[in-house]
Amino acid sequence: TKDRKIVFRCTECGHAQTKWSGQCPACMAWNSMVEGVEDRVAPSTSRFSGYAGAAESAVPVSLAEVEAEEIQRTPTGIEEFDRVLGGGLVTGSAILIGGDPGIGKSTLLLQTLTKLSERQRVLYVTGEESIRQVSLRAKRLQLSCTGVQIVAETSLERILAVASNLRPDVLVIDSIQTTFSEVLQSAPGSVAQVRECAAQLVRYAKQTPTTVFLVGHVTKEGALAGPRVLEHMVDTVLYFEGDSSSRFRVIRAFKNRFGAVNELGVFAMTETGLREVRNPSALFLSRGEEDAPGSVVMVMREGSRPLLAEVQALVDESHSPTPRRVTVGMEQNRLAMLLAILHRHGGIPLFNQDVFVNMVGGLRLTETAGDLAVALAVVSSYRDRPIPKDWVVFGELGLNGEVRPVQNGEERLKEAAKHGFTHALAPVKNIAKGGIKNLEIVPVRSLRDALAAL
Ligand code: TYD
Ligand code: MG
Repeated sequence: TKDRKIVFRCTECGHAQTKWSGQCPACMAWNSMVEGVEDRVAPSTSRFSGYAGAAESAVPVSLAEVEAEEIQRTPTGIEEFDRVLGGGLVTGSAILIGGDPGIGKSTLLLQTLTKLSERQRVLYVTGEESIRQVSLRAKRLQLSCTGVQIVAETSLERILAVASNLRPDVLVIDSIQTTFSEVLQSAPGSVAQVRECAAQLVRYAKQTPTTVFLVGHVTKEGALAGPRVLEHMVDTVLYFEGDSSSRFRVIRAFKNRFGAVNELGVFAMTETGLREVRNPSALFLSRGEEDAPGSVVMVMREGSRPLLAEVQALVDESHSPTPRRVTVGMEQNRLAMLLAILHRHGGIPLFNQDVFVNMVGGLRLTETAGDLAVALAVVSSYRDRPIPKDWVVFGELGLNGEVRPVQNGEERLKEAAKHGFTHALAPVKNIAKGGIKNLEIVPVRSLRDALAAL
């Protein structure tokens, strides 16, 4: 590749030079020079080269007249996976699957490839485990991988050579962090390597066209060398999440050019691999026999379906000048806001209390509809008074202490009734005229209403 050369480019200001330096000479930022490969010759020497690519579409057309090409999707045969993918695999797309080590990424992809191999050519590139290890796992999971081609390789150039020979429909790179380009001197796993390898693989996906899966580990620090730098390069970003103590795993779509985000696929880990959980609604409840203070069930909505989830709060006298606010599965700032609302509009002083909030089962609260449930869990723990366990709560809390309606209120109420809940605290505007069978609904306008109802 004579027409390509190595450059070090500053991630802060874009300054480029041929040597690495600890400080960017242009903007004086430290540790910002990252190795990369760039074209030696500019694509076009025209003064307007930046616009040259647009020539073909220089005549505007009405958007309505553009014939939209129907996207071809290949279902993977695993419904929960297809759900997060937006209905199946799109040829020529690149999908990043991120998640902690050991969460089940390789297992899921091996299962998916096995299914796909009945109808398509698939290639699994393992850079982390030996072929023997993968084969042993496949045996243990009782997968018949006769159609799955596998190669243990970490060199990007050789991977691309193998792929060009085999021409698979689906290519899995496990993982992007172990893949390295021989062109760059940076170590495998470094930002430069991860970015260059991903860029080449994405280009390969578009050109051939192939569906390419990139497996990425999330490091504790998050950003550096993790899959974060890749998020904007790929079409779809999926995260594999779950409580390590629980056997349930969820896959969430964070970005999807071919489908909705926040769609959730739910699996259970078993001896023979991941099993789909088609009706996960009541899965994430820890419901014991007795009513426990600090525990409240809410109806969340994940993607296109409702989900019953439990939030637990523990409020304890603080011995620190700055009491702790610890959250697992929800944003800490949101909790701080809810505590301020509780104080101002509910008269509940928590400034000398440590507050811990945990979403049960490793779920993540991403919608404001959980506000009221979290607030009431905190109050319940603070007062040491349980909320009956056949109650559900949902609603958004405003800064003035008002309870705002949430989307799909009726559907949430129905879901609660379906799972045997008998009472619901819900925003007054969410309450259906006809009511819901077997569910007594307490309409609330404000935090005060909700506190009074308990
Ligand atoms: P693995 O797929 O290797 O995780 P990752 O690729 O994300 O690092 O899974 C970790 C281990 O858990 C592996 O030894 C296989 C085992 N496992 C099961 O036994 N059953 C399952 O359903 C899953 C998902 C994993
Ligand atoms: Mg793995």
